[in-house]
Amino acid sequence: MTYPVDMTIKPEVSAYFDQATNTISYIVKDPSSDHCAIIDSVMDIDYAAGRITHDHADILIHEIKAKGLTLDWIIETHVHADHLSAAPYIQQQLGGKIGVGEKIMVVQETFGKVFNEGTEFQRDGSQFDALFKDGDTYKIGNMQAFTIYTPGHTPACMVHVVGNAAFVGDTLFMPDSGSARADFPGGDAGDLYDSIQKVLRLPDDMRLFMCHDYGPNGREIQWETTVADEKAHNIHVGGGKTREDFIKFRTERDAKLAMPKLIIPSLQVNMRAGKVPTDKDGNPVLKVPINGL
Ligand SMILES: [Fe+2]
Repeated sequence: MTYPVDMTIKPEVSAYFDQATNTISYIVKDPSSDHCAIIDSVMDIDYAAGRITHDHADILIHEIKAKGLTLDWIIETHVHADHLSAAPYIQQQLGGKIGVGEKIMVVQETFGKVFNEGTEFQRDGSQFDALFKDGDTYKIGNMQAFTIYTPGHTPACMVHVVGNAAFVGDTLFMPDSGSARADFPGGDAGDLYDSIQKVLRLPDDMRLFMCHDYGPNGREIQWETTVADEKAHNIHVGGGKTREDFIKFRTERDAKLAMPKLIIPSLQVNMRAGKVPTDKDGNPVLKVPINGL
C-alpha cells in the first residue's frame, strides 16, 4: 500500500492531557479553514461511585466553540481499554462524524461474548458513522487525512495521518516508553511489530502524536516525537531490533502486566462508540463479568 503522504500540509495540533487516565486528546485544525477534528476524546468516570462526568470533553468543546470552529470528525484510533470515549457527548453539542477502523466488528464480536450482550447489541460497527479500511481518505476542511491499518495492540487499531502529523494511537509510545501491550484478546506482538514498521516507513520528519504517556522515571509528560527519533531511540523497536527480539520481549513483559483499572467500563462503552449501555428500563448501567477477562 502506498499512502498519500503530503508533508506540505501542516495542521495546527492542540493537545489536552487527561491526568486521570494519562490519555492525550487532540484538536487538529486545518490552517486554511475553520474546520477541525478531535482525536481520542475522554469521558470522566469515577468507577467506584458509578459516576460519569464530562469535564475533560467540556474543555475541548469550549475551545472549539470559542474559536468558532466546525467539527468534521471525532476519531477513535481504537477501542481503548483504559478510558471511556466522549464521542457521542461531543457529537451532540458540535456535530461531526464518529470514525473508527472497520475491524471494530472483530472487537464487538469478542467482547459481545465476554459481556454476554444480547442480540440488540449490533456487531456490525453500525454505532459509528464511518468505518475505515487501510488507506482510506477523508477531509478535515481542505486537508486530506488518511488511515494506516495497524493491528497488534488491538485488531481494530488505525494510525491517522493528516499532512505532516500522524496520530499513532497505542501503536507506539514515546521513545523511552517503547510500545503498548499486545496481549488483549485479538492482540498480537508480531502484528504490532509489523504495524510499527509501517509507521516508521513514514517520512523521518513526520510528527508523531501519542495517545498515552506515563512520564517514566519521573520525566514530565510528553506526547510528540518524530519518525526519525522513534527509529533511532525507541527502547522496544528502535536501533534495528528484530521482530523475534520484539515478540519475545513483548510477550514476557505482557504476562506480568495487570489489567487496566478501567478496562471493564471502557470496553462496554467504547465498543458502542462511547454510548453507555442501558438496562431493560433504559437506565445507564455497566456489567462486571466475573472471571470473564
Ligand atoms: Fe489502547
